[in-house]
Amino acid sequence: MKAIVTGGAGFIGSHLCDYLIARGHEVIALDDLSTGSEANLEQLAENPAFEFVKGSILDEKLVNDVIAEGDTVFHLAAAVGVHTIVDHPLQSLHTNLNGTENVVEAAAARGARFLVASTSEVYGKNDAEGLTEDADRVLGSPLKSRWSYAAAKGLDELVAYIYGVDSGLPCVITRFFNIVGPRQTGRYGMVVPRFVDQALKGDPITVYGDGTQRRCFGSVFDVIPAVVKLMDTPAAYNRAVNLGGREEVSIKGLADRVIELTGSDSEVRYISYADAYGEGYEDMQRRMPDTGLARELIGYEPQRRLDDIITSLADHTRTNSPSPHTTAA
Ligand SMILES: NC(=O)c1ccc[n+]([C@@H]2O[C@H](COP(=O)([O-])OP(=O)(O)OC[C@H]3O[C@@H](n4cnc5c(N)ncnc54)[C@H](O)[C@@H]3O)[C@@H](O)[C@H]2O)c1
Repeated sequence: MKAIVTGGAGFIGSHLCDYLIARGHEVIALDDLSTGSEANLEQLAENPAFEFVKGSILDEKLVNDVIAEGDTVFHLAAAVGVHTIVDHPLQSLHTNLNGTENVVEAAAARGARFLVASTSEVYGKNDAEGLTEDADRVLGSPLKSRWSYAAAKGLDELVAYIYGVDSGLPCVITRFFNIVGPRQTGRYGMVVPRFVDQALKGDPITVYGDGTQRRCFGSVFDVIPAVVKLMDTPAAYNRAVNLGGREEVSIKGLADRVIELTGSDSEVRYISYADAYGEGYEDMQRRMPDTGLARELIGYEPQRRLDDIITSLADHTRTNSPSPHTTAA
């Protein structure tokens, strides 16, 4: 495989690059480093099978040039994180709509296989137990910037799907449910790295809302092999496939686990959504995947438990950002 990974310097993208290179594939990562970092790829920098191209998916010519070099496109570049979306709504929308269209068009023109990273956010406020891929979307007003990410990702899916149906683009849509692991940063609103960071520093762990909202976290190490397998599975083409973990936890419960596993003496502090994200912010009470389709297509069975996920992230954070509190913990 000669793979193009857009968003390859990001959290999930960099693990995907590692995985592909370790299996003998060639990889070009395209990333504008807006939320990603070259440090995520430094282990590959000297590898002749790997190339990093700094640039934006909004640059149509660059996207065409890079994709012309590959036969398989993993499209992960996106404006992500609640803070990014709420603070920069227009730029985020532009990236997630126009950027994706550029990448899909280039993949179709090249005749490459294509995978787009979508999100559990597309289900919005549907808090059913075990969301299946055909579950209804329950979104708030499009004028609330909270929902613009879900709206854009929904359209990304649609564009990819239509290309798949109309022009035979072999196309997979993966819906990630709160994927966590080393290299993920808490800077843009991701909850587990933020809690781990706070716990290791001995700072208060800040829970937004009342902490009863429930989530299901998945390990990047379970998800990456699944992403590559799905790309190799024609029965997955033109389908959306949920990927995530299976252990549900409340956000307050998560804070408690993080404190216990890091040996931190942090306290838990509650912050209203309005203070965290501004007035009018809406959240969903529950978000849990049904991963039965992934099991049926590729035998997907997530192996890592929440405790493993927290521990591996804490280990990574300790070695990469030492602080006086870290050693004490
Ligand atoms: N982490 C999760 O739990 C999760 C959940 C659902 C969906 N996703 C999707 O998975 C993908 C990867 O997310 P992640 O968690 O690794 O986040 P990330 O921020 O680490 O990765 C996104 C990458 O895209 C890059 N990027 C942003 N705009 C770009 C542009 N215009 N041109 C080129 N590169 C650009 C960023 O620099 C970053 O490296 C995204 O598409 C995201 O929507 C992630």
